Amino acid sequence: MALKEILIYPDPVLREPAEPISNIDGKVQKLIDDMADTMYYAPGIGLASNQVGEPYRIFIFDISPKDKPKELFVVINPEIVESDGLVVGEEGCLSVVDYSAEVKRAERITVQGLDREGNPITLKKEGLAAIVLQHEIDHLNGTLFIDHLSKLKRELYKRRLSKVLKEKQKNKNSTIF
Ligand code: NI
Repeated sequence: MALKEILIYPDPVLREPAEPISNIDGKVQKLIDDMADTMYYAPGIGLASNQVGEPYRIFIFDISPKDKPKELFVVINPEIVESDGLVVGEEGCLSVVDYSAEVKRAERITVQGLDREGNPITLKKEGLAAIVLQHEIDHLNGTLFIDHLSKLKRELYKRRLSKVLKEKQKNKNSTIF
């Protein structure tokens, strides 16, 4: 098991659009395994490659209930080919500490891409899965869920975050003798 560090907003790497993958080699397989370890350990239900500092168009997700077997999806080079409807759901993110908010998303979505063996896949999803797909594809384009909020809400979060980070820094210092 290999855990990767999850980058935290406002890390600028989270803002860079990720690059398509042209060759699904051993390095990519290792990255996917490490991403899965990192996501399950966190724990989270989705993770995009650029959240762990690897700027490639890969994301993974698993929305299976805790008491059910794991069901990991890997999507490489995803494209949204269809979306419709409107749904509002509460979202959080492993890269956005101590915050969740309601975000408007398409209710149904169709995504095409490749699985980890390079086979073409089409995911037609609604509900939580549709939200997760849009959230993760956003990541690959350098977008975070807080970008979908009003400017006021975002500013309030930024202010709270700087307090939280200062507090963490203080606690860190207090353990140094
Ligand atoms: Ni996220």
